[in-house]
Amino acid sequence: MITLFCAILCSLLVLASSSPIEGVTARPDDFRYLTAYSEPDSIGENYTFYEYTPELSVVMMNNVIDSVCATGFWILYDSINYIDRFVSCIYHGVSACATFAPACQNRASSLRYAGSPYGLNNDYYNLYQEIYLGGEEFRGEKDAADLGDFDLTISSLVVTGQSAWTFYRGLNYTGLPMCMYPDGHYTNDGIDIDYGFIFDMSEFGWPDNSIRSVRRGCHVQNVVRAPVNRTPGGGKTSMTSAPEEMDAMSITSVHTVHV
Ligand SMILES: *[C@@H]1O[C@H](CO)[C@@H](O)[C@H](O)[C@H]1NC(C)=O
Ligand SMILES: *[C@@H]1O[C@H](CO)[C@@H](O)[C@H](O)[C@H]1NC(C)=O
Repeated sequence: MITLFCAILCSLLVLASSSPIEGVTARPDDFRYLTAYSEPDSIGENYTFYEYTPELSVVMMNNVIDSVCATGFWILYDSINYIDRFVSCIYHGVSACATFAPACQNRASSLRYAGSPYGLNNDYYNLYQEIYLGGEEFRGEKDAADLGDFDLTISSLVVTGQSAWTFYRGLNYTGLPMCMYPDGHYTNDGIDIDYGFIFDMSEFGWPDNSIRSVRRGCHVQNVVRAPVNRTPGGGKTSMTSAPEEMDAMSITSVHTVHV
């Protein structure tokens, strides 16, 4: 399938440094969040998310989100319960603000993050039953000799943190393997996020629904998403759409914020 990856808008927010509280070394800004706004450029009604939210109407944010300020890898979906069949609307970054492409605005009805619930950049994988990181997921931080009910159902995935993962077309780490690294990186004021994602199994050169086991590390010669250059600072939104919706894509202006 032809997919078109489109960097829509990039902005950079340099946070004022925060002082440690009573010897606690954890920094208040070293955690995942997403503040969503009802207008472009961080204007309008806002709501801050920390967790999976299957129905945005519950917090009065259904079909209104235009822009975000966020840390982490966040996915917005057209339908409730994380379904979006044609477009992927994603934010990834660290302490940055960005506006979604017009086709992603006033559209989201659910949202969630990818990555470990225990740490922003822990080694982790999220395997999804639908293309474009949609539907139910099998996720974890450990080797999985089988995927249980998710056996032969995976259509897209995200890896985060610093480890590569090897995916196999057989149970128990057998069969044709593919290694994938988190190849994207943001760092901002000492906080890092590494991520890699594929929207459908054609990027592996595999048929849909063919993953059967997962193992930490790169154990094979076949590699997709080898590590590449590191992107300093900020974050961005992106949109990828199915061919039938490609004409909905457009580039908006770039907006950089220095605090
Ligand atoms: C969210 O909106 C409230 C009410 O208008 C405002 O006081 C607050 O500063 C906004 N928060 C952010 C993070 O923009
Ligand atoms: C996977 O390996 C374990 C341990 O060697 C074995 O007990 C199990 O039967 C294997 N499962 C499959 C499906 O091969």
